[in-house]
Amino acid sequence: MHEKSMPPHIIRHSKTVRLAAVCVAALLKKAGFRIDRRLVDRAALLHDICKAESLLKGGDHALMGRRLMEKLGYPRIGEIVGQHIRLESLEVNEAMVVNYADKRIMHDRVVSLQKRFIDLMDRYGKNEQSMQRILKHYEDASEVEQILVWSSGFEPERLNHLNLITGDHALNGGEGLL
Ligand SMILES: [Fe+2]
Repeated sequence: MHEKSMPPHIIRHSKTVRLAAVCVAALLKKAGFRIDRRLVDRAALLHDICKAESLLKGGDHALMGRRLMEKLGYPRIGEIVGQHIRLESLEVNEAMVVNYADKRIMHDRVVSLQKRFIDLMDRYGKNEQSMQRILKHYEDASEVEQILVWSSGFEPERLNHLNLITGDHALNGGEGLL
C-alpha cells in the first residue's frame, strides 16, 4: 500500500472492507463452506491497490490489481482482486465474499446495498448508459447477497454492527465479531 502511495481514505475503506469480508467468511465457514479466511483477509485489504493509479492514468483498477499481484507472486490474491467489481461466477468462494463486502462499504462505513448504490448513482450515473450499468451492478449485488444469505443464514443488517468498532480492530479470524 505504501509503495503504491495509497491515499489514506482508500486505506480506511480497505480496512473496513476487510472487517466485513472476514466476518462473512467466518459465517460461511461456520455454515460448512471451505473458505480460506487468510486469503479473504489479504485480498480484501489489497482489492483497491491500483485504484489511485487508475484514477491518475486510467485503466481498469481491478484488472491492474490482479496483474500486480500476479507479478508479485500472489496469483490467488490476484484472482480475487480481479473480481472485486465483477464476479466470474456465482460460486460461493473467497472472491464472492470480497466482492460483496466491498459493495457494503461506502467510504469507510458499512451501509446497505441500496445506500451504497444510491451513492454510486449520484457520483457516476452521468448518462443513461452509466445509469443502466450501475443498475445492473445493483441487481447482481442483490443476487450475490441472496446467495450468501441462503448459504450461511446471515442477516445482512448485522454487518452494520461493524460500524461500532475501528478498522484496526484485532479480528481473531472474525469469530464472534458479529
Ligand atoms: Fe475497487
